[in-house]
Amino acid sequence: MQYSIWDKDFSAWLIAARSEQVTKKKVYKRKIMKKEIVLFRDNSGTVSALKDQCPHKGLPLSQGKMRDGNVVCGYHGWSFNGSGSCVDAPCLGSKESCPSAKVDSYTVKEQDGWIWYFHGDDKEVLAGGPPSFPKDKKWRWFELEKEIKAQPHFILENSFDCTHACFVHAQLFRNGPAQTAYAELEETDYGMRVETREDDGRKVRITKYLPWKGKEVYHTDEYFQPFTAYVNYHFGIGKHRIILTCSPEDENTTRVFTRTGVQAGIFSSLAALILRVLTPIIISEDVAAIQGQAHGYKTHGGRYGHMRDADIPAIWMFSLYRRFFENRKIEEKRTKKITYKL
Ligand code: FES
Ligand SMILES: [Fe+2]
Repeated sequence: MQYSIWDKDFSAWLIAARSEQVTKKKVYKRKIMKKEIVLFRDNSGTVSALKDQCPHKGLPLSQGKMRDGNVVCGYHGWSFNGSGSCVDAPCLGSKESCPSAKVDSYTVKEQDGWIWYFHGDDKEVLAGGPPSFPKDKKWRWFELEKEIKAQPHFILENSFDCTHACFVHAQLFRNGPAQTAYAELEETDYGMRVETREDDGRKVRITKYLPWKGKEVYHTDEYFQPFTAYVNYHFGIGKHRIILTCSPEDENTTRVFTRTGVQAGIFSSLAALILRVLTPIIISEDVAAIQGQAHGYKTHGGRYGHMRDADIPAIWMFSLYRRFFENRKIEEKRTKKITYKL
């Protein structure tokens, strides 16, 4: 069902870009929380974010270029530094000086290979900094990014909805309900955590592609309010981690950053290679389902219905999502055990 965050007053750190996307050489354009911004690095490598509009005659700064760590507007060559101040205007009259023009600037912070953008005005959230999801050096990592036509909660809920894998990923991941899953849910200070165990990992189709035989499969799915899902899979000796974070662009569009890691001892490189091939396919299957779902609720309206036990993790996540935007604290933390066919 639809749920809008756009009339809510909230503060959060959101990923604007991956570190390697923002350089000293080019102005990098992004849309985040309905704001069109440009990101760039000054000569010291520090990242800045400015509104994508020149205060002179309105050209998008993204049509400009970088020079000496400043953005140079493509229309009349005015230059702006990382705090948005005009530092040079070439075509001045003999008695004129550089105008005191200033472009709106935004708070950004580079951390763990991502550039985080601060939305809101809560000083505590600002001072707390972005959540930390570092890349363990012993793991193999790769990054993906996708623009999805859906509100963030549809995307996040998908991570807590295990049974879809039997159908959406029937070819690659699972091959129909084959066994019993046992899930333990708990609400936490940051959101929630679900641990799901399965009887026999050999019944999970994806384990066939792995270079070792993973008998036991279990995974923990965590929700970090408001926009992150943190999934850890254990396939026998192999560990597989997905960090998925949503950055809303506007009512209908969400940019999703995923960081995938794998650790499987001597098989790590091979496992990473396999996952690099499979993950984009699995994500595109999810995107088709999520966009279809979002389109359906936008067109027809309606609410979720006829929830079964297997839906409880996603329902809890959605309820915590709404609680975040409605400023309702997690006071009485719930726990629950469920079983269902998977
Ligand atoms: S519009 Fe940017 S310098 Fe004139
Ligand atoms: Fe999926």
